Amino acid sequence: MSLFSTELERSAESSLGQPVVVDDLPHIGNISDGELFIIRNNESRYLTHHFHKYAGKFIPHIPRWAMRRFCSEAPKVVLDPFVGSGTTLVEAMLQGHQSYGMDVDPLARLISKVKTTPISVGRLGAIKRDVKKFDSDPTAYGSYVPTIPTLNHWFTPGAISELSACLAFVERYRDDEDIYDFLIICFSSIVRRASNADNQTMKTYVSHTHPKTPEHAKRIFTSTVFNYADRLAAFGALIKDARLSIIPQTIDAKNIDKFWSEMGLPKVDLCVTSPPYIKSVDYLYNQMAELFWIGNRWDLETQPKQNEYKRLYIGNDRPDTIGLEGDLVTGISPIDAYIDRIFSSDKRLGIVVSRYFRDMEQHFLAVRKVMKSGARYILVSGNSTLAGVPVPTSDLLTITAERAGFMSRNYFGYEIRNKHMRFPRGGRGGVVKHDWIIELEAI
Ligand SMILES: C[S@@+](CC[C@H](N)C(=O)[O-])C[C@H]1O[C@@H](n2cnc3c(N)ncnc32)[C@H](O)[C@@H]1O
Repeated sequence: MSLFSTELERSAESSLGQPVVVDDLPHIGNISDGELFIIRNNESRYLTHHFHKYAGKFIPHIPRWAMRRFCSEAPKVVLDPFVGSGTTLVEAMLQGHQSYGMDVDPLARLISKVKTTPISVGRLGAIKRDVKKFDSDPTAYGSYVPTIPTLNHWFTPGAISELSACLAFVERYRDDEDIYDFLIICFSSIVRRASNADNQTMKTYVSHTHPKTPEHAKRIFTSTVFNYADRLAAFGALIKDARLSIIPQTIDAKNIDKFWSEMGLPKVDLCVTSPPYIKSVDYLYNQMAELFWIGNRWDLETQPKQNEYKRLYIGNDRPDTIGLEGDLVTGISPIDAYIDRIFSSDKRLGIVVSRYFRDMEQHFLAVRKVMKSGARYILVSGNSTLAGVPVPTSDLLTITAERAGFMSRNYFGYEIRNKHMRFPRGGRGGVVKHDWIIELEAI
């Protein structure tokens, strides 16, 4: 497959052929290079997939397709090195695979853990009874209030007192880890709705043009506990043999090989993931309101602490972590040509792009070491426009992976129908409508 013809095909979205409308991605037989799908059955919020918003969640169809296509006989070892909210892990558990997920984002790890940790129906029923009593108790209050100076900008006094009461309810379960984590995620998932911050945008901000009426925290917390408890019970009923490991500590996907060998973990049969996009999602900024309330679990409850932590994320654009000197050259000429063009109109962005591809190369080198030969790495990625330059990120990642021990086998695209899964990558507020699924083989 010629890289340059691929690049042209993949970057020029206008030149794509007619998309094929399907209910699910075909997992038997080969898909033609460059084929484009519209997935009509866009039900992506079943069972615990519904838990908590998370920027850049991919649709469960992708890991489900990848496992059916490449791991027909369970159990196999499946890895998502940028696990986010755990979509891959939920699907892996449903198909009976042993799965591992890691992420630098602690809230992401907790969401993933809760989505994939069944709790018995009896215990879930007891929580529902308790939360019902709590909801109808007018004297329920809590003492914890975030200490940030801008608290009143983000929350009304009523919201502060109700959120505080909800958190006090959660704290009653501190000694019961799985239930406590479950309730923290129920709580976290309602903070934005109870705040003054806009519900629709990913970034946490208070809109003055569209002022919002915050929802009642106690009411939505109670209904969320009911809803999530039912979904977790339904998920648990489908899981025969829990085989899952969320790696609880912060592991950088660039150093996955060291962790794997220290822990003596098994070689991976299939890797399915959507790595971060270049300078597109500021995960901590998106989670700011939630972290004011629960971030003390990870020492991330204030904005200065959150800002400091951002350096760990691949694709971040923290100016204080970039530094203007340093070697921009990746040694991969098509990538260097893009870096040059971007750098000449925006130096900082040029550095961000260079660092992104160097970080991703380090990741590919590391992950290759933990994979079996012949195993597939299914990577989901989209293209971006940076400093006015359309960047075929998915092609450039393919070339990067090829230099790190992978062979490109196939690629195809799908149209992003769910607006919550689209996010700005198109320069001036445009959204990219296709993502590319790239099949790489570890050689
Ligand atoms: C596009 S999201 C993945 C979303 C996921 N597929 C889902 O369905 O929720 C990319 C993830 O990469 C994580 N990430 C960024 N840099 C990382 C690094 N150096 N090591 C591990 N994870 C990282 C981010 O925190 C984010 O959760």
